[in-house]
Amino acid sequence: MNLLAGKRILLGVTAGIAAYKAPDVVRRLRDQGAEVRVVMTHSAAKMVAPTVFQAVSGHPVRLSLWDEQAEAAMGHIELARWADYVVIAPATAHVLAELANGLAGDLLTTLCIVTRAPIVVAPAMNHSMWLSGATQANRARLAGRGVLFVGPGTGSQACGESGPGRLAEPAEIVQVLTDHANAGRSGLLAGLHVLVTAGPTREPIDPVRFLSNRSSGKMGFAVAEAAAAAGARVTLVAGAVSLPTPAAVERIDVESAAQMNDAVMSRAQRTDIYIGAAAVADYRPVSAPSQKIKKNSDSLDLHLVKCPDILAGVAALDNGPFTVGFAAETERLEEYALDKLRRKGLGMIVANLVGDNIGFDRDDNSAMIFWPGGQEDICCMSKADMAAVIIARVADRYRTARSKVTPLPRTRTS
Ligand code: PMT
Repeated sequence: MNLLAGKRILLGVTAGIAAYKAPDVVRRLRDQGAEVRVVMTHSAAKMVAPTVFQAVSGHPVRLSLWDEQAEAAMGHIELARWADYVVIAPATAHVLAELANGLAGDLLTTLCIVTRAPIVVAPAMNHSMWLSGATQANRARLAGRGVLFVGPGTGSQACGESGPGRLAEPAEIVQVLTDHANAGRSGLLAGLHVLVTAGPTREPIDPVRFLSNRSSGKMGFAVAEAAAAAGARVTLVAGAVSLPTPAAVERIDVESAAQMNDAVMSRAQRTDIYIGAAAVADYRPVSAPSQKIKKNSDSLDLHLVKCPDILAGVAALDNGPFTVGFAAETERLEEYALDKLRRKGLGMIVANLVGDNIGFDRDDNSAMIFWPGGQEDICCMSKADMAAVIIARVADRYRTARSKVTPLPRTRTS
């Protein structure tokens, strides 16, 4: 999940030797899906050419308050308000002093006074400058005003001496922004990691054919989107579907039940909630020849073997996540769903009828939700609305289950 996707980040570059590392910060932020604009001081521009930043950010670099052309395009006030974050890397002792004292003598410091966005600074300077009383007083003043500091690191410095003052690694700077974006999220599932599966699996018969089902992935994608909207960090393991990835959701594409099992089981122990909305194959051909099967005979026998039951595997983990299953049935919905809930030891199950014009590949759905000791009916509504209802109930049951010391009773697996 890219928490920085779509974030607008203003990077200020001041005149430290470490300015040569700042293009890497831009590149990493863009890799996360952030939009980056760069403002340099005139001295910084003597150390690294603005054209380097223009190339990596994809936007012209701003250097001055007096650039008429740039001011006509996006004035400095507008630029300050555009930013979701202002990052200064490297930040010199001089710029820390300016910021601490509210000076606005150039474009960067003016932007910092105007902006309401969080300001993150990554100091880089000689260790004696960093440890000086003046710089430490400025640091304390800025920290007291909510400015976030990354680093500096300790080690050998460009001047040949050693001590604190090295620019934090670009990855660390990006991580501080990611952590801040995550902490700023709120909602029923804030701070939790939710793993969701969606869509059908495909079980190969030969290189050109497969066994699959009619799931479109719409329900599972809606659940992933609702979980993200509720503040969770969401990982979505998707079967063969052609749906856009919901915002702020990490997506892993798989094809077969075995691949989905691997993707889920390698993550399940580190997640808080697992929601299995995928229509996973129960059986697969025992083997798939490497060449296309020719139609040489009047009939063809396919020998099928059971696929791993991912949901049961997750629910059986020691200290595993709160586990939510779906049941897709064509008859005896309640009976079959309750059997799955008990037999697999689930925290909750969402039961929906499927068939012609119902359940699969539609924008709406109806369901019954069951958990040990309770149930709720959800009448026909859009899958997006239903996902929000499911997530609210999941959050509620998750808290109840986690507040109990004894695990929920599990019946024998058959
Ligand atoms: O994708 P859509 O077109 O929007 O349709 C939505 C849906 C109908 C597919 C969805 O709402 C749904 O019901 N998903 C579950 C489909 C399913 O496989 O149901 P099941 O009753 O066969 O399986 C029960 C549970 O076991 C499910 O949570 C399933 O993910 C899980 N399972 C099943 C088989 C298997 N090998 N491993 C599993 O984990």
